[in-house]
Amino acid sequence: MSSQAARLVVLVSGSGTNLQAVLDASADEAYGAEVVAVGADRDDIEGLARAGRAGVPSFVEKLSDHPARDAWDRALAARIAEYRPDLVVCAGFMKIIGAPTLAAFPVLNTHPALLPSFPGTHGVRDALAYGVRITGCTVMLADAGVDSGPIVAQEAVPVLDDDDEKTLHERIKTVERSLLVETVGRMAREGWTVTGRSVRLGRSGG
Ligand code: GAR
Repeated sequence: MSSQAARLVVLVSGSGTNLQAVLDASADEAYGAEVVAVGADRDDIEGLARAGRAGVPSFVEKLSDHPARDAWDRALAARIAEYRPDLVVCAGFMKIIGAPTLAAFPVLNTHPALLPSFPGTHGVRDALAYGVRITGCTVMLADAGVDSGPIVAQEAVPVLDDDDEKTLHERIKTVERSLLVETVGRMAREGWTVTGRSVRLGRSGG
């Protein structure tokens, strides 16, 4: 792995297929980013097993091990900081990132809906229940809100007549993995600028 590669800490809460896509992409030095650690808010998840198989260090910081949310926020930021990331990537991390991490690192998040529609834990279920014909996925910078940060990239996915939450989510995730890999790679190689809510990839931001 190149010493020039951007250092990524990836946070997961579940199966970690988005993490796996980034791990696979980073095997190519030209990708420009490497996963230096994987963090989780729970034990015994496939995302942590994926880190182990890839030889990437991992850590678990559980909310229930802390007396209050702000203590967990500080502990998570400290665990992340040990790995000196250039970018933190929430890849199916089902917790809001707190102020200590947001103040220290740029944080990217991925969501299975076209924000600002259907934020939160059940983006796919909520889009189906609303009856939209097109949904998709969004890669955005995290802020203090729920899926409310500046949008970096989006891609649309049609809803099929016989979709249920599982089939639709799986089709979204196929698109989402590619979008996340492409976006993280471009951010690592080209940098980015944020002006208000507008994110531009590239050195000049133009
Ligand atoms: C992804 O679809 C991600 O967008 C979603 O969880 C899935 C994780 O899949 N995250 C959220 O809904 C956050 N609001 P994975 O564990 O297989 O990468």
